[in-house]
Amino acid sequence: MDKLLIAGGIPLSGEVAISGAKNAALPLLCAALLTKEPVTFTNVPHLNDIGTMLKLLAQMGVKVSREAAVPAGTQSAGAGDTVTLDAAGLDNAVAPYEMVKTMRASILVLGPLVARAGEARVSLPGGCAIGARPVDQHIKGLTAMGAEINVEQGYVHARATRLKGARLFTDMVTVTGTENLMMAACLAQGETVIENAAREPEVVDLANCLIAMGARISGAGGDVIRIQGVEALHGATHRIMPDRIETGTYLCAAAATGGEVRLTGASATSLDAVIDKLMDTGCEIVAERDAIRLKAPRRLTAVSVRTAPYPAFPTDMQAQFMAINAVADGTAVMRETIFENRFMHAVELIRLGADIKIDGNTAFVKGVAKLDGATVMATDLRASASLVIAGLVAQGETLIERIYHLDRGYEGLEQKLAALGADIRRVK
Ligand code: UD1
Repeated sequence: MDKLLIAGGIPLSGEVAISGAKNAALPLLCAALLTKEPVTFTNVPHLNDIGTMLKLLAQMGVKVSREAAVPAGTQSAGAGDTVTLDAAGLDNAVAPYEMVKTMRASILVLGPLVARAGEARVSLPGGCAIGARPVDQHIKGLTAMGAEINVEQGYVHARATRLKGARLFTDMVTVTGTENLMMAACLAQGETVIENAAREPEVVDLANCLIAMGARISGAGGDVIRIQGVEALHGATHRIMPDRIETGTYLCAAAATGGEVRLTGASATSLDAVIDKLMDTGCEIVAERDAIRLKAPRRLTAVSVRTAPYPAFPTDMQAQFMAINAVADGTAVMRETIFENRFMHAVELIRLGADIKIDGNTAFVKGVAKLDGATVMATDLRASASLVIAGLVAQGETLIERIYHLDRGYEGLEQKLAALGADIRRVK
């Protein structure tokens, strides 16, 4: 299994390109199931999760054409990022356990399949490292739209001749839940209203693509989304938004190492809460039209954060900020409100010398003057990113095990960090 070896202590400096957003791309690829016409996506990141989703769609009968990938960090990086999906021959509305267990976002095929094919059999995702993560809200919403749903032998089996528009209310704000129901509602009969909808920029990106495909959606980006169902959707071309979590991760890496970087192809508008906190640490940040520049102070100031649905501070940035706080001046209180078990990086950071105490969903992080390299283990995607940041800061060598999590969500991570001057390499 691959590992990452980092020799820390080098301030990151230079320019790097941000990739398309994983969490926007996954639902967008599923949206292609809603039409018989081809849909083309550009700025698709080269990630294992995207590969898994394309395999899942292909085994349903979707024709997948992808330009050959060009590795990040090479001169033509960014090319080869176009994917065309043609779901005219959709003939197998099944998402098997073997695929869903590797990627929870596979549940995003449920809404589109039942809306277009009248039937879907999708494996239940089960738990994951950061918590139970049920999909009851997805099921509740589709049931309210008239789908007949049975959960048997670990599969959600949904059927509907045609879904009917309904007034939907989710018990909590759910991102993929909102996306699943919004996609399903596009082909339903009549109007669907989703209340308590997720306001994440990825929901807006999906809505924009669906609108380009002929859907009638208003309100995406707010907490009430209205969808007037139509008979059919048509093909479109859509450019996937920049990855705001990848952007935030590189900003944190630059901040923690005392660096100065410019991230191109990035958007500051979807990152207000993160940029705000980084400015509180003492970083100078300048938002350009398609780029973000950051210059770190000599020592960062600790910042307290509380995760919550967008536009508040994202849970997907909590781990990276814990790495920052580990070496900042002062004590930070970090509260996780979205997932019940999302502090597993803390024990690994402690192995590097961090001073962190956990009490339920709150972490108290007292900044230390320095971290020392050690062997640590990645437990989930963003936890892995926090260990990379800590490794870049730590004195000596840090070896990160189980980095397959990083390959799910960070395109060309070591090439991009090396381009910013880091001493990082993949070892077998
Ligand atoms: C998405 C993101 C993930 C991010 C998360 C929260 C994708 C592919 N993934 O995950 O990176 O960390 O949003 O911002 O976009 N819940 C239920 N029942 C449901 C649905 C959700 O109880 O039916 C709970 C979850 O367990 C969790 C909370 O609601 O505690 C929010 O989860 P949700 O927004 O659904 O996360 P995902 O969409 O899976």
